[in-house]
Amino acid sequence: MTERTTRRPAEAGAASFPSPAADPQGFHEALSWFNRRRLAARAPHDGWEAELEAEQAARLAEGSWIEAERRAVESRAKSAPSNCSDFVAWFEELKASGPGQGDPLFPWLAETATREEMRWFLQQEVAGEAGFDDLVAMTQVKMPPQPKMELANNYWDEMGRGNIKGMHGPMLDALALTLDLKPSIEGTVWESLALANTMVAFATSRRYAWHAVGALGVVELTAPGRSKLVAQGLKRLGLSNRERLYFDLHAVLDVKHSEDWNREVLRPLVAEDPARARWIAEGALMRLSCGARCFARYRRELWGAVRLAAE
Ligand SMILES: [Fe+2]
Ligand SMILES: [Fe+2]
Repeated sequence: MTERTTRRPAEAGAASFPSPAADPQGFHEALSWFNRRRLAARAPHDGWEAELEAEQAARLAEGSWIEAERRAVESRAKSAPSNCSDFVAWFEELKASGPGQGDPLFPWLAETATREEMRWFLQQEVAGEAGFDDLVAMTQVKMPPQPKMELANNYWDEMGRGNIKGMHGPMLDALALTLDLKPSIEGTVWESLALANTMVAFATSRRYAWHAVGALGVVELTAPGRSKLVAQGLKRLGLSNRERLYFDLHAVLDVKHSEDWNREVLRPLVAEDPARARWIAEGALMRLSCGARCFARYRRELWGAVRLAAE
């Protein structure tokens, strides 16, 4: 649980973007600040021209980084079949063999982590949460009717099907409040910021529309197993049914979301144009690689601290 220095590269334009290879923490903090401002609901202001120039530089920095990340998964993604049935089977197999699957962090959270360790983990996760509802909403723009309808269904579930108490985002906020979490960009490891920055890049850039479909679908595919173990850990630590609801809900609901996504979104999109298989596969592999990188960093922070405390 490393203490890190606070920096605020945000207010400056992209000229202040450090290289993601040389300073990943600085790069992802800068990109997170940019994304926060880019997505916020705001009023007109006099600085809009300068802001647009800074935005172009930031989006170029974002694009170069995403292209480098694409190269890392390119060869595995190219091996994905382009026949729609085979592709869905390939995609579903990522649950077993995808990057970060079966990570030992989660059984440890279920069985061993202290309340403080669980709080640190959740604070990183909450800070790195890009908002599944907004990502789905941005991704559905100009999709064909059948996938668009499934994205709408999924979004409506995120909205508690019209019941404010059933909205998923506020459920996670309530847990953060219960545990007195203080998520912040500068208090979050770059691996977690990078995960959110990847999802935002996919959802806001239409050239990555198929990547967004793959990344969101692979979250639905792989979240239930992890959610179940986190919920188990929260129960062990004495949190009530209501307080654990976000994780208990996703342990079950995302199984259905995943089945629906694969049938209603992936299958028709690939049947309509088999060339999309490769881009959906890249998006899924990039999202899983981001997760794997987070889990490895969390283990280094959490287990390193445990070992130090025991000495
Ligand atoms: Fe959800
Ligand atoms: Fe879901």
